[in-house]
Amino acid sequence: MRTALLWTLLLAACDGKEDDSAPDTDTDTDTDDTSTPSSDEVTDPLSMPAEPAWSVDDFNPAAECATCHPTHYEQWSISNHAYSMVDPLFQALVGVRQADFDGASDRFCLQCHTSIGTRGGEIVPGFSFDELSPIVMEGITCESCHKVTGIARDYNSGHEIDPAAPVQGPIADPVDNSYHASAASTVHDSSEFCGACHDVIEVSGLDLERPYREWLESPAADEGRNCQSCHMPTTTGPAAEGGPDREVHDHRFVGVDTPAIPGFLPEDEVAAHAARVEALLTDIAAVDLQVASMVPQGEELDLVVTVSNLIDGHNLPTGSTFIRELWLEVVATDTDGNVVFETGTLDANGDLRHYWSELEPYSDYDLVTFGSGLIDQDGEPTLFPWRATEHWSAAIPPMYDRTVTYFIPTAEAAPGPLDVQVRLRFRPMAPHLLRLVGMDPEAIVTYDLAEATAEVEVQ
Ligand code: HEC
Ligand code: HEC
Ligand code: HEC
Ligand code: HEC
Ligand code: HEC
Repeated sequence: MRTALLWTLLLAACDGKEDDSAPDTDTDTDTDDTSTPSSDEVTDPLSMPAEPAWSVDDFNPAAECATCHPTHYEQWSISNHAYSMVDPLFQALVGVRQADFDGASDRFCLQCHTSIGTRGGEIVPGFSFDELSPIVMEGITCESCHKVTGIARDYNSGHEIDPAAPVQGPIADPVDNSYHASAASTVHDSSEFCGACHDVIEVSGLDLERPYREWLESPAADEGRNCQSCHMPTTTGPAAEGGPDREVHDHRFVGVDTPAIPGFLPEDEVAAHAARVEALLTDIAAVDLQVASMVPQGEELDLVVTVSNLIDGHNLPTGSTFIRELWLEVVATDTDGNVVFETGTLDANGDLRHYWSELEPYSDYDLVTFGSGLIDQDGEPTLFPWRATEHWSAAIPPMYDRTVTYFIPTAEAAPGPLDVQVRLRFRPMAPHLLRLVGMDPEAIVTYDLAEATAEVEVQ
């Protein structure tokens, strides 16, 4: 009974927050009892909508748009938006959450990954992915975005969606067509439009993802450059077959992820996708070293490393930072080839040697990461947001620096040049997370965002 009471109080507290104003950005919740509530106690006060107003049959699948908008269709179909429901990691995590909550609280995760499924009433407690309609499995499909008529709140699927409305888009004077009525939208060319899905707050009130709120305080926002300006680059061409030339927006939504399902990217797109991610990640960070040019053997060498986020639109990393890894690797090698200092190197499983390493846990005392992490009620790290009571973050704000000092021992270093190599490394996913849900960590790509070297004379 005590649990039920606390849970009700917690939900009441969350309910109170459900207004148009920006949510509380405090990343802590202070409930000391997060034991799993039973299914009849759980509702999703932060999920939209309270009551489904439509049927999924009121929406049109993407294939219907392909005849007249072939380029938009092709680009969307290889985007992570089209991947959001088939994503095996998503399905695995939803499965764990369903087990934790005994099937209830299911709309929460689905409200953004399939806004049509939640609005269409298909996401019910205990739902199973195999029983969902094809349009629900399309994930964030054309009409998830183009039937948005307004924004009720700038987080947790805060869109107003009306399948009966004309198709909404950025063109003020759309040419008529036989299939749909069109209307110029006031929201599609805004960051808030993206923020309504990209800022994620757990049912508990825990702040999980906040690129929109990061952007609000960024130089890009001051200069009026929105998410679309970086993530939907424009070209000139027809917006529909036979239509006039216009400024058209890329619908591939390049980020840092690579879809893990073989065949999701057609063969000729695999290398091209990798190249687009590489391009997005080029020149977005810098590493600068300050170190003496010589050190007497036996004395500690101070290595000062400054890491800068050169993205002026949001933190590095942003979004689901708790599954990303951004870290500094430092390796100092003496003239005989002996490694006298290393941090940020991996164990034999490919994991960083921190809490999650199965082989060498907590053995990298100098490890510095710039991601974020979730902590449960017992003070232990967790990978499951709904089990967390705390979310710490060391992500670097836009155009900010972080400085780290390493103390490199030289007692074991041979006299002569000591080679110091520093890399800022990034990977979209940690191997231990994929192993946890039974997926293959082999495919994870590690990107070196910046690097620097120094040579120090050991005397
Ligand atoms: C029969 C052809 C046809 C089909 C099918 C079609 N469209 Fe269109 N669509 C057009 C034309 C023509 C325009 C106007 C283009 C212009 O003015 O440059 C347009 C415009 C748009 C716009 C821009 C509206 C604006 O005012 O900014 C969007 C968004 C859009 N369509 C989405 C869709 C979606 C989503 C579907 C599928 C559910 C779809 N279209 C199906 C022909 C079509
Ligand atoms: C100035 C250009 C710029 C702007 C503006 C911008 N982004 Fe990004 N975005 C990037 C770059 C570069 C990356 C890759 C580095 C990273 O992960 O932070 C990225 C990565 C991302 C990622 C995936 C990476 C991750 O770490 O999860 C998401 C999601 C994202 N941005 C969403 C947004 C949203 C939402 C907005 C608007 C509120 C936005 N971006 C505005 C440049 C930009
Ligand atoms: C995640 C949301 C999202 C999805 C999914 C999406 N679009 Fe869009 N689309 C947009 C936004 C946002 C714009 C306008 C960008 C701006 O003005 O800055 C746009 C613009 C358009 C336009 C106007 C021409 C242009 O490129 O600016 C057309 C046509 C269009 N989309 C068609 C489609 C079709 C067809 C699909 C599905 C195959 C689709 N969109 C999926 C968000 C989306
Ligand atoms: C209806 C909800 C929704 C809307 C609207 C939306 N997104 Fe997304 N977006 C998502 C989800 C969910 C994913 C991740 C899907 C997955 O991989 O499982 C995603 C993925 C992405 C990625 C790829 C991230 C990566 O790491 O590869 C980028 C970039 C992105 N979105 C940018 C945008 C931008 C820019 C806008 C606004 C024009 C926008 N999104 C609008 C829900 C949304
Ligand atoms: C408020 C909207 C929203 C809700 C609610 C939401 N997500 Fe997401 N999800 C996103 C967005 C946006 C992204 C893309 C973030 C990025 O790339 O940084 C995403 C990405 C993901 C990814 C892909 C990560 C990757 O980069 O490959 C997984 C897995 C995922 N979400 C699982 C979940 C689970 C499980 C829940 C419920 C606990 C959930 N999501 C609830 C919006 C949401």
